[in-house]
Amino acid sequence: MPKRILSGMRPTAKLHVGNLLGALENWKKLEGAESYFMIADWHALTTEYASQSQIKANVIEVVIDYIAAGLEPNKSTIFLQSLVPEHAELALLLSMITPLSWLERNPTYKDQLNEQKGKDLATHGFLGYPVLQAADILLYKADAVPVGEDQLPHLELAREIARRFNHLYKKVFKEAEAILTKTPKVPGTDGRKMSKSYANTIDLSDSPQEVDKKVMQMVTDPARKRRQDKGHPEICPVYFFHTIFNKENQETVARECRTAARGCVECKQEMASHLAPFLKPIYERRKKLESERNRIRDILIEGSKKARAVASQTLAEAKDAVGIGI
Ligand code: TRP
Ligand code: SF4
Repeated sequence: MPKRILSGMRPTAKLHVGNLLGALENWKKLEGAESYFMIADWHALTTEYASQSQIKANVIEVVIDYIAAGLEPNKSTIFLQSLVPEHAELALLLSMITPLSWLERNPTYKDQLNEQKGKDLATHGFLGYPVLQAADILLYKADAVPVGEDQLPHLELAREIARRFNHLYKKVFKEAEAILTKTPKVPGTDGRKMSKSYANTIDLSDSPQEVDKKVMQMVTDPARKRRQDKGHPEICPVYFFHTIFNKENQETVARECRTAARGCVECKQEMASHLAPFLKPIYERRKKLESERNRIRDILIEGSKKARAVASQTLAEAKDAVGIGI
């Protein structure tokens, strides 16, 4: 078990089942006294600077999602990036030593420029996204960062920046390892990757009725136009959820789909009946937390104080190593 871990999410939306299976469940397993779970509101601003009005509300929603999903603020540290100004300051310091070419060839940068078509992302802040992320990780001298595969290029950059700093000045930073989730990419209701930008999510804040409705509207194998058409479970998002929430019966489901022995409607109903007991407790914890928003704020303020104590120590070491200040 790694000693110190850090990870975070951007408060651009409420969290969904993809975030739960892809990240939160993994975080939960690793959670301990030296775990830092951040809400990356500065990172949200890199893409949402012109549609920023929801960020503040989403910060609270994401903390509620974290806790409803099982993180324990008494055990780990849950904090807000912008409440720990050391993140911004270290990012500036690291930006001095980060070659532009490292940022320009970052694959996630190129992907996002293509994907987020409606937004002008040709900004200094967006290019510097991985520098800020490196600051997040290095400030806590994290041993490991639990993330999805899409974050590997950012992790690698953080390691490269740490190495360059340590080499140029003094060994202050630690090179953090990635801890990858075992769950493959979770599909959304339309069969594409589950993502807020595709409006295909099942959210942790969806009521049991909403979840059932979304499941019944999910796309299935398009080859099964009629009940007697044989299907290909491996390309069906409903089947994906069977493999996670209805593991014991997955072979039967696959066989009956391939031989047209089951219809998609009953297949969805069966899947929904296995998904519900998993999501319902989270939904119910969430409902309760929604009525305690002041307590949520306090958790975030307290967590950020705790985080700041560590971050300010590391930043002082880094500034001292460089020789900035008096
Ligand atoms: N870039 C991450 C994402 O989009 C969020 C993030 C910000 C993060 N800072 C981090 C993840 C530090 C891990 C460690 O999911
Ligand atoms: Fe998907 Fe089930 Fe229909 Fe097969 S029977 S296509 S697995 S919903």
